[in-house]
Amino acid sequence: MKTSIFIITILIILTTSLAKHHACNKNDEKALFQIKKSLGDPDIFGSWQNTLDCCEWDYVICSNGRVTQFTIAGNMISGQIPFAISKLTHLNMLIITRTNVSGPVPSFLSKLTNLNYLDLSYNNLTGSIPESFGRLSRNTQHIHLSYNRLTGNVPKSLGYLNFTTIDFSGNQLTGDLSIFFGRNKTIEIARFSENNFEFNLSDMEFPETLSYLDLNHNKIYGSVPATLARLYLAYLNVSYNRLCGKIPQGGDMQKFDKTSYFHNKCLCGLPLPAC
Ligand SMILES: *[C@@H]1O[C@H](CO)[C@@H](O)[C@H](O)[C@H]1NC(C)=O
Ligand SMILES: *[C@@H]1O[C@H](CO)[C@@H](O)[C@H](O)[C@H]1NC(C)=O
Ligand SMILES: *[C@@H]1O[C@H](CO)[C@@H](O)[C@H](O)[C@H]1NC(C)=O
Ligand SMILES: *[C@@H]1O[C@H](CO)[C@@H](O)[C@H](O)[C@H]1NC(C)=O
Ligand SMILES: *[C@@H]1O[C@H](CO)[C@@H](O)[C@H](O)[C@H]1NC(C)=O
Ligand SMILES: *[C@@H]1O[C@H](CO)[C@@H](O)[C@H](O)[C@H]1NC(C)=O
Repeated sequence: MKTSIFIITILIILTTSLAKHHACNKNDEKALFQIKKSLGDPDIFGSWQNTLDCCEWDYVICSNGRVTQFTIAGNMISGQIPFAISKLTHLNMLIITRTNVSGPVPSFLSKLTNLNYLDLSYNNLTGSIPESFGRLSRNTQHIHLSYNRLTGNVPKSLGYLNFTTIDFSGNQLTGDLSIFFGRNKTIEIARFSENNFEFNLSDMEFPETLSYLDLNHNKIYGSVPATLARLYLAYLNVSYNRLCGKIPQGGDMQKFDKTSYFHNKCLCGLPLPAC
């Protein structure tokens, strides 16, 4: 009697733990092995062995046996971002940051229809932002490409999308940023500092959702639009551009100190000296 209760208890424990644990999907495992191989099988993938379920491997997180998150931060991996990442079809978060990956921002990322969060900042990526990013999934809300060596115009096709966070700072990107703004957009955090953006800011319209706008160190001209004073801004920095004219008075505009506005062509009015 005691033994049968013991066996039943064991069975219950086993079945409940099996139900919770979904084995890693075979296609995902195959894609991960391809990723490891194309990065030259570096030491950091030591746990990526077929003796271990791939949901237990370092740098990945699964949900129901599918790889949903892939994060490499601060490891010295080199080479291009592997194509096999596009085969992780359930990926919703991809972070590769502060590594030595080089080559282009891969256009195949637009195939990842579940991707919500993309962070490729602080790498050694070159070339321009691919036109295919205009076909990124509507699910892609957060895009960080900051501190790489990206050049060229930001593709106009990105303007058809609705992002929550965009961080393109610290590249050599050019073009007009008005495609990301406008009343119907949903952008909240916009970081475009330290690039070569050159456009007239005067007539730009901003959505009510915007709370963080960093445009410092570009070649932006025109004036600071009065529409900005109608927003609830937590952060604003338009310093080191070619702006002119009076800073709009009111709203949150004077909440920021002069370093948010200094080093422009002829901006004036509080918190800068009077016009
Ligand atoms: C970036 O790539 C260049 C050229 O391939 C290389 O010289 C440089 O060391 C790389 N940067 C880093 C941080 O490794
Ligand atoms: C970074 O990548 C470049 C190009 O692949 C390579 O020449 C360089 O040796 C790498 N640097 C390090 C520190 O791995
Ligand atoms: C923005 O929304 C308004 C209505 O709220 C609409 O009339 C207008 O066409 C929209 N503009 C764009 C660019 O989607
Ligand atoms: C962005 O999202 C808002 C709110 O959901 C919507 O009204 C607007 O039309 C969208 N704009 C674009 C360009 O998709
Ligand atoms: C920027 O646009 C405003 C409004 O359309 C215009 O008055 C101004 O002359 C433009 N500034 C420059 C430098 O082109
Ligand atoms: C704005 O950016 C400039 C340039 O990077 C910096 O010196 C200044 O401290 C920034 N101001 C604020 C309020 O962050």
